Amino acid sequence: MTDQPSTPSEPPYGQPLREGDVDADPVRQFAAWFKAAGEAGVSAPEAVAVATASADGAPSVRMVLCKQFDDDGFVFFTNYDSRKGAELTENPRAALLFHWEVLGRQVRIDGRVEPVRPEETERYVRSRPKGSQISALASPQSQVVESRAWLEQRVVELSTRYESSEPPIPSRWGGFRVIPDTFEFWQHRADRLHDRLRYRREPSHGWTIDRLAPSATPRTSAIDRGLTPSRSASAVPAWASSVSWSSSASSHVASAAGPMMSSVSCRERRTRPTGSRRSRRRRCPARSAVRTISP
Ligand SMILES: Cc1cc2nc3c(=O)[nH]c(=O)nc-3n(C[C@H](O)[C@H](O)[C@H](O)COP(=O)(O)O)c2cc1C
Repeated sequence: MTDQPSTPSEPPYGQPLREGDVDADPVRQFAAWFKAAGEAGVSAPEAVAVATASADGAPSVRMVLCKQFDDDGFVFFTNYDSRKGAELTENPRAALLFHWEVLGRQVRIDGRVEPVRPEETERYVRSRPKGSQISALASPQSQVVESRAWLEQRVVELSTRYESSEPPIPSRWGGFRVIPDTFEFWQHRADRLHDRLRYRREPSHGWTIDRLAPSATPRTSAIDRGLTPSRSASAVPAWASSVSWSSSASSHVASAAGPMMSSVSCRERRTRPTGSRRSRRRRCPARSAVRTISP
């Protein structure tokens, strides 16, 4: 039996995740996957679902942007009086979930949570456009407000007040750092025999890696509709049967003072039936690279 030749245009999808290939350090493993997600054209690889729970165990979940990660943890910024802020204050544990569909990957991270130092919050807030700083100041996140007009009026008032000066740092705005005690790296594989590698922090030092059994839950994602190279051609809609990828990463530029940035251009093309006007080409903006994610 001859192997199907793989074409260079195939997405790097469904690649095995082997114990021997992964980094012993889950943060470095995460950094490699995060970089790959940016290079594959994921529009916001730093978008992450954060699950929290109240003191009596009622869960809640929402998306945030992970603005930084390193050996100390994964940082996002929010309003400390929001629902998540209140829940994390009374029950300082969280679960994060990154999902990079185009690579068939997810990463789960669980851990305890600490507020970041005020200097870190200030550095982040000041790195944001003035309009965003004003909005953060104007919006009592997660509180009931009487109308959109009320919010917009507050923005107008604050914009006028701080037209020629810096707005103050919102007193209840700040970062949370999730300090992981487990990671799980999940890689889609053929026939739903997915790979799952879990890292658990050892009390002394280092991490233990275990393989977990996958579920066999049917999926009907974009991947299953045509982005999986291993699918049989007959099962793939004609419009989605060819996906080509082109990406080129420019050099990383790191400086002690600023974030490490990567400029990545990517192009996704889905081939539609002949004569179709639905052929689509999309250019993706520059992507942030590892560790520190710019606003
Ligand atoms: C892609 C995406 C990124 C978001 N990033 C943030 C963020 O970094 N910080 C934040 O407070 N809210 C962010 N939000 C809004 C939150 O999902 C949520 O609406 C808000 O934080 C209030 O959540 P809470 O009431 O559960 O505290 C984001 C939403 C989306 C869809």
